[in-house]
Amino acid sequence: MVRLAMLGSGFIGRFYADSIQGLRSKDKIVSIYSRRESQAKKFADDYGCDQYTTDMEAAIANPNVDMVCISLPNNLHEEAVMLCCKHKKAVITTKPLGRNAIEAKRMLEAVERAGIFNGYLEDLVYTPKFIKAHASVQSGALGRILWAKSRETHPGPHSEWFWDLEQAGGGCILDLGCHCVEITRSYIGKDIKPVEVMCWSDTQVKPIEAEDHAIGLVKYENGAIGQFEVSWTFRGGLDLRDEVMGTEGTIWVNSFLRTGFEMFTTGKGADYVAEKAESNSGWLFPVGDELNELGYNHMFFDMFDAFEKGTKPREIFYDGYVVNSVLDAAYRSSKSKMWEPVQLDDWRGQVGLTKPSTLVEYDADHYLIKEEMTHYGEKKLILKEKISGKIVEKVII
Ligand SMILES: NC(=O)c1ccc[n+]([C@@H]2O[C@H](COP(=O)([O-])OP(=O)(O)OC[C@H]3O[C@@H](n4cnc5c(N)ncnc54)[C@H](O)[C@@H]3O)[C@@H](O)[C@H]2O)c1
Repeated sequence: MVRLAMLGSGFIGRFYADSIQGLRSKDKIVSIYSRRESQAKKFADDYGCDQYTTDMEAAIANPNVDMVCISLPNNLHEEAVMLCCKHKKAVITTKPLGRNAIEAKRMLEAVERAGIFNGYLEDLVYTPKFIKAHASVQSGALGRILWAKSRETHPGPHSEWFWDLEQAGGGCILDLGCHCVEITRSYIGKDIKPVEVMCWSDTQVKPIEAEDHAIGLVKYENGAIGQFEVSWTFRGGLDLRDEVMGTEGTIWVNSFLRTGFEMFTTGKGADYVAEKAESNSGWLFPVGDELNELGYNHMFFDMFDAFEKGTKPREIFYDGYVVNSVLDAAYRSSKSKMWEPVQLDDWRGQVGLTKPSTLVEYDADHYLIKEEMTHYGEKKLILKEKISGKIVEKVII
């Protein structure tokens, strides 16, 4: 059994609590910190917490607390992490780890110095579809991964602080790009170094300082390319999609909209359909089990299981630091309009990789470019002569 302090009683704090205490779970939120007493008390009543408080340190220091779950706005993650280090409490924090890589690195170094358990709550690498897709990639079903793309777009966040550059640290690149970067990085291989980023961003619709739409490319040392597409101006709900392309196969994953559950209503029923749904009438795309489809259940299972076994969960603060470093390069690129290097002064993966050769042996004199069966019964081979470099065709009837 893990006994938790929850910091923050808002949108994600409640999603997390529903997952942590759902389905006859043995794990328990024993303490809740929230800025406003009324909110802390309401959360404590709803989830049966022993303690509610408006003093963050008091929640963390509570002797009955084994682990602290940070569900606060981005600008408060560091303060909360430092208090967990001070009180030597295991800590798990929501995404993004920091508002930038400098903050993320300070948090990473602090938890490692304190020797405390740390987990990075990137739920979208724990969705059932991601877990299955990733296992297929790991087993070699797609061959060498060439391109991994992830999109998260929706009509914009639900609280004021997200829209404030100082508190949030960025716009949709940071808020949604952190998911996409970790998803694509996981498909490509978390031990493969992201080396440079090219990013376009703009503020197309909202009267804010931050970007509300962006597209970015992340180049990896082995030649693979990651792509993220993020927006706070997308209309039509929460669009969560991944595409992975390898030398031997392809995966397309749609996690949220049009996943096989479609419903029509004139609008007489419940108001809530799914996260960021824009309508509750007409043809709708409800989500069967949102906590599970968004990965929260598998994520907390991994976190608590690792904590009890004394091992590391799949996602740790180091991953959050790498993600922040990639996104910092994206912000630099969207200003400079150039490829910008990912500044990772603490890299723990493989080094010195190069792009594999494109030469596939066909016979002593030729390399194979491709083969295709035609509709008129001939098999065509496209070959490259090794010595001359000439491209030739061979037809097999
Ligand atoms: N899928 C995900 O992983 C996911 C989804 C949504 C949000 N998040 C992350 O969760 C964190 C919180 O986001 P949210 O959506 O729950 O926001 P929210 O606004 O719904 O809730 C934030 C909570 O923090 C409290 N708070 C706000 N300002 C504060 C302040 N100045 N001092 C103390 N407490 C303050 C609020 O009262 C509330 O309890 C953010 O880091 C966000 O990026 C993650």
